[in-house]
Amino acid sequence: MRVLLVGGGGREHALAWKLRQSPGLKLWAAPGNPGIADAATLEAVKADDIGGLCDLATRHDVELTVVGPEAPLCAGIVDALAARGLGAFGPTREAAALEGSKAFAKEFMARHGIPTGSFGAFDSAAAADRFVDASAGPLVVKADGLCAGKGVVVCDDRAEAHAAVRRMLVEREFGAAGARVVLEERLRGREASLMALSDGERVVLLASAEDHKAVHDGDRGPNTGGMGAYSPSPLCTPQVIRFVLDAVMVPTVRGMAREGRPFRGVLYAGLMLTADRGPMVLEFNCRFGDPETQVVMLRFGEDLVPWLSGAAAGRLPAGDPRWDPRVAVSVVLAAPGYPGSYPQGAPITGVEEAAALPDVAVFHAGTRRRGTELVTAGGRVLDVCALGADLGAARARAYEAVARLRFEGMHFRRDIAARGQSLARPSPS
Ligand code: AMP
Ligand code: GLY
Repeated sequence: MRVLLVGGGGREHALAWKLRQSPGLKLWAAPGNPGIADAATLEAVKADDIGGLCDLATRHDVELTVVGPEAPLCAGIVDALAARGLGAFGPTREAAALEGSKAFAKEFMARHGIPTGSFGAFDSAAAADRFVDASAGPLVVKADGLCAGKGVVVCDDRAEAHAAVRRMLVEREFGAAGARVVLEERLRGREASLMALSDGERVVLLASAEDHKAVHDGDRGPNTGGMGAYSPSPLCTPQVIRFVLDAVMVPTVRGMAREGRPFRGVLYAGLMLTADRGPMVLEFNCRFGDPETQVVMLRFGEDLVPWLSGAAAGRLPAGDPRWDPRVAVSVVLAAPGYPGSYPQGAPITGVEEAAALPDVAVFHAGTRRRGTELVTAGGRVLDVCALGADLGAARARAYEAVARLRFEGMHFRRDIAARGQSLARPSPS
């Protein structure tokens, strides 16, 4: 099969690594990165250049385009490819609204009885301020549109919520993406991520995972795009998984179909596992999670191509995919200053040595080549991943690989997956 992969981060490297194992595959990536270059032919077209990507898919006679990031999905790349008769894995623009508009997602969940916190959506600061004043407990203020993970403010009190409303609706810190805000009840509990493939009707759950969003050990410091992950999540017991399938994934896919925007692709549910109200949806994403995909792909036990092409064509394969029963851990190596501003261009050493360790994969998240040298080119630079018989073994192997890697000012969390070690071993997926 002839496949084009869109994107150039760690998630796309993990997808490329997995796709590469498919027999007879011809793979291009745009724009890709130096790690993806080992698995695919790179094309210098940006992930948001929809016209350029459609031309590329046409030129290479691509049968399936796999779209990594949310921005092109929300901008309608799947519709644009379909207009040229080209197949793509990912939702249409209308279906991508589950991620592209937080107000749409919350109103959709309310319409379909999908468990999520109470909320209000506002485009006027006065009305939002009244909601804040009337709220019983702490709130989370979210910009409606895409903000590359930055448009969420978790507030401790009303003053913080008022300030966040002002930044978004009055000062327009997030531009048009923040012209509308969602104010949500702040939920308490532990977070886990579940993703599901859908062909518009059927739903196939992928293995559970947990992200680590805060920059410092012990979940301290500002939120990042994700500092590491592990799979499976011991929080996702068979009961939790069953509940999320029946009460979240299936009703979402059915509801989207009924509303005339069938969802094909991967549906990501960010969940808060509350003590008193069970699992509740914090957010939907319309694409593979980053860095969850890195650990989930390490454990995906079969050829990925039939699953992605099946979802795209409206006919997922029957049954569930097999999973490697081992545990996968991924530690993100970040540039100094991240998640604030950070320098680029620092030489990176040790990638080959680290990747040569058994059961280790080093995915490139933000790297580029300068001549023959590999240098940093993003806030999250590398995803160092390992498989192990249990969490302890996977963690030990991942950090053994981390110890081989260097670039100036590199920082990472030392407690990725540590929280899982205090919990009992769950079912394999
Ligand atoms: P999101 O981009 O919507 O996933 O939000 C980013 C992070 O903000 C989540 O991973 C949570 O840690 C936190 N968050 C979002 N919504 C809520 C909520 N309603 N209650 C508590 N925390 C939240
Ligand atoms: N790991 C969270 C996300 O992909 O949005």
